[in-house]
Amino acid sequence: MNAFEVTTLNEFILEKQAQFPQAEGDLSHLLHHVGTAAKIVNREVNKAGLVDILGEMGSTNVQGEDQKKLDVFANDHFINSLHSCGEVCAIASEENESFILFDDDVARNGKYVFLMDPLDGSSNIDVNVSIGTIFSIYKRKSKVGEKATMEDFLQPGTEQVAAGYVLYGSSTMLVYTTGDGINGFTLDPSIGEFCLSHKLIKNPEDGYIYSLNEGNYLKFPAGVKQYIKYCQEKDEATHRPYSSRYIGSLVSDVHRNLLKGGIFMYPVTESAPQGKLRLLYECNPIAFIIEQAGGKATNGTKRIMELNPTSLHERTPFYCGSTNMVLKVEEFIKVFG
Ligand code: AHG
Ligand code: MN
Ligand code: MN
Repeated sequence: MNAFEVTTLNEFILEKQAQFPQAEGDLSHLLHHVGTAAKIVNREVNKAGLVDILGEMGSTNVQGEDQKKLDVFANDHFINSLHSCGEVCAIASEENESFILFDDDVARNGKYVFLMDPLDGSSNIDVNVSIGTIFSIYKRKSKVGEKATMEDFLQPGTEQVAAGYVLYGSSTMLVYTTGDGINGFTLDPSIGEFCLSHKLIKNPEDGYIYSLNEGNYLKFPAGVKQYIKYCQEKDEATHRPYSSRYIGSLVSDVHRNLLKGGIFMYPVTESAPQGKLRLLYECNPIAFIIEQAGGKATNGTKRIMELNPTSLHERTPFYCGSTNMVLKVEEFIKVFG
């Protein structure tokens, strides 16, 4: 691809908007700000280790997890950037107990609410392993011009108008959907632009990679244990045994399985009786993306995006990836529990 063929994120956003004559450009403006915020966080991620941004903050978040400096930097930066864009009336974040209301004349007229996991895979920050940001965007239910309410956030995933993730990996990528397929953009540092690199990603319906923290094996539900054994059995016709790959960063594990085929699982465990991953800002956005690529995302029995949230930080068991792999683990859960 020569330099003249590159499609930048902003060009792509505008081309997409042109396909919807009634669009007023608000979502485009918001997505542009997400891209800019991602570039700033990426800059800090890339120089982490050289400046004082590694390590613990010495504080804990609402999840009771030790906050890393980069968790807080990413959280603060996305909040400030999205507040200034004027399209968002409030934000919910993994790092904040309640939602952050933007109660000024401009932001009160924002049509959208934004939910995020500002820094996913925090345990990997200090050891230079890929991390990410996950976001989800809904149209507010409350009246434009008034204060946002909790009801704006407690919507099923099927109501998302956009969702995506940033992967700060060997290269930095932004992958997002607005409901008509998913596209991946790779940051070209030489021009400081996200450039279209993965057009209309399709998730293979079969895969040969399974991802979960097998350290929790003894406490997994019986069906999950049986499925893991199924993955490990030798059967040439179905390319088994599969490969086990687990990075411990949801965005990284999901991105690999999205492109290559595979299944990511976070079942209930003794320390996480509802599952560990958060429905609103981890599972729903990832579910939207994986479904848009042709894959599947469930809680083991029900479609993730049809779950009705009752609280901002609620957790859910999570199985997502290649359709036939998710169907297979659901079969085992149905039979063995
Ligand atoms: P976060 O860093 O935002 O808290 O998310 C971490 C999540 C997710 O990224 C990953 O898949 C999972 O935690 C790993 O959990 P375990 O270390 O328990 O396997
Ligand atoms: Mn996370
Ligand atoms: Mn996080």
